[in-house]
Amino acid sequence: MPKLTRKKIVLASGNRGKVREIGALLADLDCEVAPQSDFDITEAEETGLTFVENAIIKARHAAHHTGLAAIADDSGLEVDALNGAPGIYSSRFAGTDATSEQNLEKLLIDLSDIPKAERTARFQCVIVYLAHEADPTPIICQGSWEGRILFEPHGTHGFGYDPVFYLPDHNCAAAELPPEVKNGLSHRGKALKQLLATLQPN
Ligand code: IMP
Repeated sequence: MPKLTRKKIVLASGNRGKVREIGALLADLDCEVAPQSDFDITEAEETGLTFVENAIIKARHAAHHTGLAAIADDSGLEVDALNGAPGIYSSRFAGTDATSEQNLEKLLIDLSDIPKAERTARFQCVIVYLAHEADPTPIICQGSWEGRILFEPHGTHGFGYDPVFYLPDHNCAAAELPPEVKNGLSHRGKALKQLLATLQPN
């Protein structure tokens, strides 16, 4: 029995790059998906220590303030040579108010002595769906995307660490892929496909 009981769903993300990607991927869902920015809601404080905890915190916050069902994702980059960092701290790697450019620059500096073969990394994404604020059984979906960190940025698409995330199978950076191609391959795309299959099994 699908849990999709409400027509309108709030998408709990303030990141415009992610809202664009998730919005495109959820276009197939038979309901209206409204970004959190359509409502007067402050950002939730991400106090969890895991992607799952933070995604639930964000979705619950949005559901609480809108009275709607909510979808939230928490994602980040895990770099093996940095023992999994920046992980859940990906958006604040270079400091609380750091820009994507500053985070990316810090990553390249931290990896400057690491040779190509040891620059393996992956994006992780957890997406949760809460039917309502007090939903005790959130739908939790997870996707990952393997790659390697480049020595310098390439490409102009995407957001965040995309310009330095090299995809061996495609011989290019994630930021060199057209958005629809990235959506079909990415950690977020994989997690969203699972969510769609759960919400709309047919
Ligand atoms: P969140 O908004 O707390 O989930 O933080 C996610 C952060 O991880 C983003 O701000 C980016 O720095 C990074 N990130 C997650 N997914 C991607 C992606 O698809 N491309 C590039 N960077 C990403």
